[in-house]
Amino acid sequence: MTTMHSTDTAAWQVVDEGWGRRAADFATMSEPANCREYLAVAHRLGVHENDRLLDIACGSGLAIELARIRGAECAGIDASHRLVAVARDRNPNSDIRVGDMHSLPWPDASFDVATSFRGIWGTTPAALDEVHRVLVPGGRVGLTVWGHLKDSPGAWALAPFRLAAPGKLANQAAMQLGRPGAGEDLLARHGFVDVRRIDVPFVWEFADPETYARTLAATGPAYEAIQHIGEAAFVDAAVEQAGRRVRGGLPLRAELAVVGYLARKPTQQTTSHERTVLP
Ligand SMILES: C[S@@+](CC[C@H](N)C(=O)[O-])C[C@H]1O[C@@H](n2cnc3c(N)ncnc32)[C@H](O)[C@@H]1O
Repeated sequence: MTTMHSTDTAAWQVVDEGWGRRAADFATMSEPANCREYLAVAHRLGVHENDRLLDIACGSGLAIELARIRGAECAGIDASHRLVAVARDRNPNSDIRVGDMHSLPWPDASFDVATSFRGIWGTTPAALDEVHRVLVPGGRVGLTVWGHLKDSPGAWALAPFRLAAPGKLANQAAMQLGRPGAGEDLLARHGFVDVRRIDVPFVWEFADPETYARTLAATGPAYEAIQHIGEAAFVDAAVEQAGRRVRGGLPLRAELAVVGYLARKPTQQTTSHERTVLP
């Protein structure tokens, strides 16, 4: 068995500071808004009864819960122990671990399907070697990343994230894999075949600006902004931003571009022919 070890264990161990600090808010206010994305990817991957599925960077485990409803036998991993506690509460019979996606604690060929919803990025490409390792030959993978956000009708909803320090913003920019060709190339380079890019439905809805601000504050990128300008200033900026979008009798609505990549591990040793990226 080959296992890739992270060279920077400290980096993943501090992830919980940002992602886990408001775990109950994240799980109940933020994650449910991603249900369209989870449903679309599970459908396109054909997740079915008895599939052994691993969700990487599983957050508080709602995607796992939905995959279980389709009959899959699920496992998950996330760096945030407080989000994992919620994921286990939601999925008591699933194998959900605290850990680093660069060093998956499962043997080779353990899973038929691997998913990651905005969890694997341009800054974490080595995680794909681990995804490849733990999939069976022919195993399917589905990843999502942000698409062209500036052109999204709901771009306003992410604007408060830009209040982070310049260094953090540069890292957020380096993470992006949504531009045409980026994810396709990355997956092909890591040995996946039949790579397909799909548009994934993704809409955030909020009852009012205060709910929006509280929801946003429970996320990792918001924590980076809060570290820079303080919580009160972040919340004020978010409420002000959303206040301009209020529509009488309707929820605040932010439709955001999310790109999905579907691919599979070759059934045999990869040939140069199989490494071709499909249109
Ligand atoms: C954008 S959130 C996505 C969470 C979840 N997939 C969802 O759909 O809401 C990114 C997640 O990646 C996790 N994460 C960040 N770095 C990680 C690492 N090195 N290994 C495992 N999980 C990590 C965070 O704790 C967080 O839950």
